[in-house]
Amino acid sequence: MSKKYRVGILGATGTVGQRFIQLLENHPQFEITALAASDRSAGKSFVEACAWKLSGGMPDSVKGITVQPIEPPLDCDIVFSSLPSSVARETEEAFARAGYPVISNSSSYRMDEDVPLLIAEINHKHTDLIEVQKQKRGFTTGFIVTNPNCAVISFAPPLAAMHRKFGVESVVVTTLQAISGAGYPGVPSLDITDNVVPYIAGEEPKVETEAQKILGQFVDGVIEKADFTVSAQCFRVHVIDGHTASVRVNLRNTATLEEIVEAMNNFPSLNLYSSPKKFIDVCDEPSRPQPRLDRDSGNGMTITVGRLFPDNIFDYRFVSLSHNTVRGAAGSAVLNAELLIDKKII
Ligand SMILES: NC(=O)c1ccc[n+]([C@@H]2O[C@H](COP(=O)([O-])OP(=O)(O)OC[C@H]3O[C@@H](n4cnc5c(N)ncnc54)[C@H](OP(=O)(O)O)[C@@H]3O)[C@@H](O)[C@H]2O)c1
Repeated sequence: MSKKYRVGILGATGTVGQRFIQLLENHPQFEITALAASDRSAGKSFVEACAWKLSGGMPDSVKGITVQPIEPPLDCDIVFSSLPSSVARETEEAFARAGYPVISNSSSYRMDEDVPLLIAEINHKHTDLIEVQKQKRGFTTGFIVTNPNCAVISFAPPLAAMHRKFGVESVVVTTLQAISGAGYPGVPSLDITDNVVPYIAGEEPKVETEAQKILGQFVDGVIEKADFTVSAQCFRVHVIDGHTASVRVNLRNTATLEEIVEAMNNFPSLNLYSSPKKFIDVCDEPSRPQPRLDRDSGNGMTITVGRLFPDNIFDYRFVSLSHNTVRGAAGSAVLNAELLIDKKII
């Protein structure tokens, strides 16, 4: 059997941290050897420190691990980070400088010009930026890669399918984001029950800028961002898991509806352990996608698209959906780690 990489999780007790633990249980390439969280948790066994919220229960293998503070060294080869951005910047840099590959969910480094913002199926060539980053920051074996904001990943894949073939010119997106996107305990129940909240702090700027970096080209050591504009409004809705995006898009070149459906449905998935069979699944049912019915598609790693039609004002409109803590966070980070191993970067 091939070597198993020892992984540490920063923010292990949180919403995304727990999802990492669930996805890494029985993973053929990784074993969890270190868990870290805040001073509230450090020094306790994981079972004492963590209020487990996912179905299926806490895996026995992590219960007895003592939670560490979020400082290097940790007993692991790779670090997955799901820390709040308030502490992620300094901590992730410290781990990278200490020689650890850091695969991050937090927003701290996403838009730094020498840090890849990866969706493995779309822009795996951006991993070439890692060498640039190491040189610039004086890292040795360590580096930082990031995955996108959990709402961005719900619509960037169908946009990528359109952009590659027809060129995207402008996008208007309205996101309907699940409660778990705010972590635990997140949005108070009295604010979200029977309600829609038209504000998520800091979200709209991320949704308006990250897709252009993801769909950019790596040329001469830098990423040239894709040349389109995004206008976004972000809403918190009364859904537990699964972010929905309502999207309208103008294209640079003409495309038929059939061509767009084909470009999305045939966008290749990768052949990695966490890769879904279908990366983008365009469904015909008029009432889909829906969070409860579609978020677990492809083990939570498929992006489901529906309601794809020509629009009266824009060229096309569609609705897309992804699981925010799987494809939007831990699942994408694990897939990125598998990609980095496959490319022999780790
Ligand atoms: N939830 C999502 O759908 C989602 C999706 C994509 C990205 N993200 C990003 O992932 C990160 C984590 O989100 P989450 O939803 O998992 O949040 P969460 O449920 O609030 O969990 C936060 C984790 O970070 C730890 N932590 C908090 N403050 C800390 C501090 N000052 N020092 C050290 N550790 C600290 C907590 O440890 P204690 O238990 O000890 O307090 C906990 O393990 C955020 O940057 C978020 O933006 C979240």
